[in-house]
Amino acid sequence: MTQASSAGGRLAGKVAIITGGASGIGAATVARFVAEGASVVVADLDGDRAAEVCAPHGDRAMARAVDVTDGDAVRALVDAARERFGRLDIYHNNAGVALIRPLLEITREEWDRTLAVNVTALFLAAQVVAPVMREQGGGSLLVTASIASRRPRPDMAAYVASKLGVTGLARQLALDLAPEIRVNVINPGPVPTPMLLRFGGDSIDAVASAMGDVLPLGRAVQPDDVASAAVYLSSDEASAVTGVVLNVDAGRDL
Ligand SMILES: NC(=O)c1ccc[n+]([C@@H]2O[C@H](COP(=O)([O-])OP(=O)(O)OC[C@H]3O[C@@H](n4cnc5c(N)ncnc54)[C@H](O)[C@@H]3O)[C@@H](O)[C@H]2O)c1
Repeated sequence: MTQASSAGGRLAGKVAIITGGASGIGAATVARFVAEGASVVVADLDGDRAAEVCAPHGDRAMARAVDVTDGDAVRALVDAARERFGRLDIYHNNAGVALIRPLLEITREEWDRTLAVNVTALFLAAQVVAPVMREQGGGSLLVTASIASRRPRPDMAAYVASKLGVTGLARQLALDLAPEIRVNVINPGPVPTPMLLRFGGDSIDAVASAMGDVLPLGRAVQPDDVASAAVYLSSDEASAVTGVVLNVDAGRDL
């Protein structure tokens, strides 16, 4: 077992699991969490990319190939994190999938998969993580939802339903898991990551720039903007904060 890091920082000594950590917002959050003193397990369907994200961080990060819709795999993930780092303080439920498709063309399989990854994964994780964090005396569950949950766009029925659903579940968990465990939600606006290509366009930056131009702050949200919110909500600075939904959306909700 590698002991949790003794490095300083706003997450000093904490151990985190970040799902969807191999790409985009998750990968940016891995780097920030490590920089703030945490040890991190990068959990993703794509184990190879998870390993690439971990590589610069030496023994402070560990990659794990996991499908977050598989309850047994999530249990094994939490066991592996505790075996390697000795504890678990933060579970960032960040993995997600986007489905942009006209309502009448969405298949039942696509609907079920979107809800499984974006909603059911949090239910499965909470059942595994809650006893562990309670036994330790505390912990933080963090969810990446989306500003789409408040501002639907055309052809996003499954995605919007999933992101509003996971927000409702997170707020319920904030009540059910208090006082030991805090549960909070981040609603990103458009962020230039591979997911954004689902909205069409030739390049991630072109889509982000087109979307950013119409936002009040005149720019897209960067992965690091979301990571900053994740650091705050996962840190002891937010020890009185639970059940909140924090928009990091360049004003999209206005
Ligand atoms: N990019 C945006 O504009 C935006 C806006 C609002 C919300 N979000 C949300 O932010 C989160 C991160 O998205 P991103 O933009 O970084 O996307 P991304 O596609 O870059 O990364 C998502 C990661 O999740 C992983 N993943 C997908 N299904 C998984 C599963 N079943 N098990 C484990 N890992 C799985 C993928 O392999 C990928 O590495 C998602 O929940 C997304 O819905 C993104």
